[in-house]
Amino acid sequence: MKVVMIGAGYVGLVSGSCFAEFGADVVCVDVVREKIDALNSGVMPIYEPGLDALVARNVAAGRLAFSTDLAAHVGDADLIFLAVGTPTRRGDGHADLKYVYAAAEALAPHLTGYTVIVDKSTVPVGTAREVERIIRQHNPDADFDVASNPEFLREGAAISDFMHPDRVVIGVESERAEAALRALYRPLNLRETPILATNLESAELIKYASNAFLAVKISFINEMSDLCERVGADVQAVAKGMGMDRRIGGKFLHPGPGYGGSCFPKDTLALTRIAQEHGASSRVVSAAIEANAAQKARMIQKIRKALGGSEGGKTVAVLGLAFKPETDDMRDAPALSILPSLMEKGATIRAHDPQAMEAARPLLPDGVGYCDGPYEAAQGADALVLMTEWNAYRNLDLERIGGAMRQRVMVDLRNIYDAETAAKSGFRYSSVGRG
Ligand code: NAD
Ligand code: UGA
Repeated sequence: MKVVMIGAGYVGLVSGSCFAEFGADVVCVDVVREKIDALNSGVMPIYEPGLDALVARNVAAGRLAFSTDLAAHVGDADLIFLAVGTPTRRGDGHADLKYVYAAAEALAPHLTGYTVIVDKSTVPVGTAREVERIIRQHNPDADFDVASNPEFLREGAAISDFMHPDRVVIGVESERAEAALRALYRPLNLRETPILATNLESAELIKYASNAFLAVKISFINEMSDLCERVGADVQAVAKGMGMDRRIGGKFLHPGPGYGGSCFPKDTLALTRIAQEHGASSRVVSAAIEANAAQKARMIQKIRKALGGSEGGKTVAVLGLAFKPETDDMRDAPALSILPSLMEKGATIRAHDPQAMEAARPLLPDGVGYCDGPYEAAQGADALVLMTEWNAYRNLDLERIGGAMRQRVMVDLRNIYDAETAAKSGFRYSSVGRG
């Protein structure tokens, strides 16, 4: 089975490599030459655990290749996946589909024989039909079907999520397209992964509805964490007690500095725009978006309070810049709004992240000090802020880190320590939702 993956980003690269691992012949195509050159010389353009070994193994087996030449590979393909970005369109919050449509236009003239064109990007309802229209317009005689196959992997756990998904969703309109996708995913189906076949519209909406629901869950627990602080409850206990009800489930009930990343912020916004366009309401999702912004603002106040009421002239050590651990992705990371706000009020930032410092540098204001490790970041600091729960920060030598600081103050935005442990090393400790 021959697969072309258009877009060699977090999703395209991981999905393409995993399809190769299943035995398909895969070519990942990207318009960014440096990315393809890097991949062809064995260098990963992103940090994703296990990706380098997976890529190397499948390249060596001759099942995985990288190219900038789309035209050269389209003709051979049985399935062509669109895994390009769908960021927020500037100005109106809709998903920007220009990369999807450009890819559809670029591939159309080169189609030969029956091909399934599959949207893997997260796209608004109706996009697959528009892709079909574009291809038909540019190649009226082409023999093809369109399909929707949204991706549910998380960054940092992308390979295992892809290899062990809760479900595979395929939106199809023809038995032929469904058979091709089922054949490609057969190795997962053999492991009893359910494959849900729906129409195109349902598949497209399942993706947005799933991301929005998870975002709602996070915003819900973040609001509860505020209430916990006010009434003297412990949000960890509240989340645990709620999660024991199997109808609720314990996952995605961890409070923090607000959800970030390349997907929840843009997809929740896009869903409200899709609803608006079709005259439906999306009040719950809108509230989750508002609550997320409020959570970030509340974290800034929390840090200010820990600094004694003002950031002016204070040094803040920040551990973790990426929106979550095990990734170098800085898209919509809470650090991108929290740090500039502290700096505007006169704080000096000394930051560390195990993987994301290079990606963070162009996105954060000049003047952020990038440090070699947590102990260096803590040097002379008035507060230590734990922003991302990297494993490297879970077992810090608090005596050593406190010894490097001007004041022993810790603001733990991920609840990885507790007040008692911190107090033993002389820290004044605050966290999220533990009243
Ligand atoms: P990304 O920005 O990491 O990668 C997109 C890639 O597409 C880039 O390398 C870009 O150069 C390339 N590209 C753009 N136009 C192209 C074209 N015409 N031809 C070839 N390549 C082209 O994006 P991503 O994070 O992989 O996300 C891709 C899609 O998958 C988005 O719709 C996103 O919402 C969705 N998604 C992402 C994740 C995730 O964890 N990142 C998970 C599930 C779904
Ligand atoms: C998320 C979804 O989990 C994936 O299923 C989906 O495929 C992906 O978006 C996407 O569409 O791109 P991802 O953004 O990689 O994956 O990471 P998550 O683990 O979901 O975390 C997202 C944000 O929520 C992070 O900022 C994280 O810190 C935060 N979060 C997550 C919490 O604050 N609390 C939680 O309990 C869980």
